[in-house]
Amino acid sequence: MPTETNPTWWKEMSVYQIWPRSFADGNNDGIGDLHGVLEKLDYIKALGVDAIWFSPLYPSPNRDYGYDCADYKGIHPEYGDLELFKRVLDGAHARGMKVIMDLVINHTSDEHEWFKLSKEQPDSQYHDYYYWRKGRKPGGKKPPNNWLSVFEGKAWEYNKDLDEYYLHVFAKGQPDLNMSNPKVREEVKSILRFWLEMGVDGFREDVITYIAKREGLPNGFPLPIGTGLEHYTSLPAVKDYLREFKEVLDEYGAFTVGEAPMMTPKLAKEYITDEAGNLLSLMFHFQHMEADCFLIDWVGLPFSLKKLKKAFSTWQREMAGVGWNALYMENHDHPRIVNRYGSLKYREASAKMLAASYILQSGTPFVYQGQEIGMTNTKLDRLDQFKDVITFNNYNLFKKLGFSEERFVKLANRRSRENARTPVQWSGGRNGGFSEAEPWFPVNPNYPEINVEAAEADANSILHWYRALLQFRKENPLVIYGSYQEHYKSSRSLFVYSREYEGKKLLVICAFGDKPVQFCAPKGFDLTQGRQVLGNYAPPETQSNCFVTRPWECRVYLWE
Ligand code: GLC
Ligand code: CA
Repeated sequence: MPTETNPTWWKEMSVYQIWPRSFADGNNDGIGDLHGVLEKLDYIKALGVDAIWFSPLYPSPNRDYGYDCADYKGIHPEYGDLELFKRVLDGAHARGMKVIMDLVINHTSDEHEWFKLSKEQPDSQYHDYYYWRKGRKPGGKKPPNNWLSVFEGKAWEYNKDLDEYYLHVFAKGQPDLNMSNPKVREEVKSILRFWLEMGVDGFREDVITYIAKREGLPNGFPLPIGTGLEHYTSLPAVKDYLREFKEVLDEYGAFTVGEAPMMTPKLAKEYITDEAGNLLSLMFHFQHMEADCFLIDWVGLPFSLKKLKKAFSTWQREMAGVGWNALYMENHDHPRIVNRYGSLKYREASAKMLAASYILQSGTPFVYQGQEIGMTNTKLDRLDQFKDVITFNNYNLFKKLGFSEERFVKLANRRSRENARTPVQWSGGRNGGFSEAEPWFPVNPNYPEINVEAAEADANSILHWYRALLQFRKENPLVIYGSYQEHYKSSRSLFVYSREYEGKKLLVICAFGDKPVQFCAPKGFDLTQGRQVLGNYAPPETQSNCFVTRPWECRVYLWE
């Protein structure tokens, strides 16, 4: 496998993701904000990351917590204002960290000015900013096609005054923008310029492969969920639009990472290679997030290490020398990884092992808030404590399958993305140190045990492990630019990979599970000659080439 020959700053960086509402409440109204972020900049820097990606900070009625944007050039008053954002931006830059904004352009909020005008002044140019269509029968009796929303019932919402429907692939409050309209694309470019002029360094582009819809909006293949997907996923026009946006982005040398559901390596190469014109720097695919579910988190399956390893190694192999991987295991859309792929009983060991299993691969690593202290899924007792539109949509679906509310709440506690959205646990104090006021969403009751303050004080904590890993990556170009090779592919309990670069070698051994497993170093890797640089248990007194793994053990060896 070739090693990387084209060094770039965004290949070398690692990124911390902030979901602002639950990060830190600086003005004690129960809602995370930019005051809180400002106070925590040193903490973020100390983790060893080089950039912060902010989930949406824009004004929003919060039907999807900022992913329904009501003004692309503003800051939600709950989070602060532009002046405060500028201070955060300068503060990050002063510490050598880049800032990445979330760009949500597949849809706006239904409270965005454009949408309001599109509805109230159907003769204005704004009507064609969205997909307004007549129904197949008058009077709201049959929508324009059979598409289903991925969040909420049908993908069409009827407007009586206009006797027309608008398209919303996501929630009702998230009308899809008509990107085929050049005026809409001009708006997008103006948004890009606005933030780039201010000094932001790049964008995470929300569901970017959905932004083009099939001409004529034909019916989709009927399915119980997701009907219509084939008519708005990765259509050729997405690339035309990205090419257009790239002209602006390139003026500023901006970085981009596109979120791409259902992405495969083959398709990714049409976006993120030199040959494809590097339409995006990176892509977030989902394949390694499907090792314990069928396509979506809510359809659970037993965890399969084989599936995980296959996804990891396929992307490593396919991107080698041509593209670059975005490495992540958590974000605001998935339950906590310790619950999913690790073990609550061995939380510390498994959280550390999981971190090494992806951060030392080839690519740009992302760490999600709270992941660095091993935060876990939460436990809510009643449906009315949940907040997320997906949870309620799923309740309606699961009810039809005979689920009682009680049974559904149990499922939601394991599978909802709200598990990632509980306030960050800063201390063992009131409300986990997140806020003096009652937090907008309940703090995970395990905060007295799991919190940043406790993690800071314990030299063996998950937090210190993340710092060590990111530091090690920074100091060793091998981790960034080395080749990747997987070993013992068919093992059901071990994930073993090596990296090589300029005569140096690294071996990462990850034990997935409590049970002891006999491990012997693969050919060409003599553990007695290497140096154990990281491990989540005390290293053995004398190294030997074979050992029996301890629960969720992880060891990293270096030869130089
Ligand atoms: C992306 C976001 C998610 C949001 C959805 C709709 O998947 O990550 O949080 O709900 O897009 O914007
Ligand atoms: Ca606040």
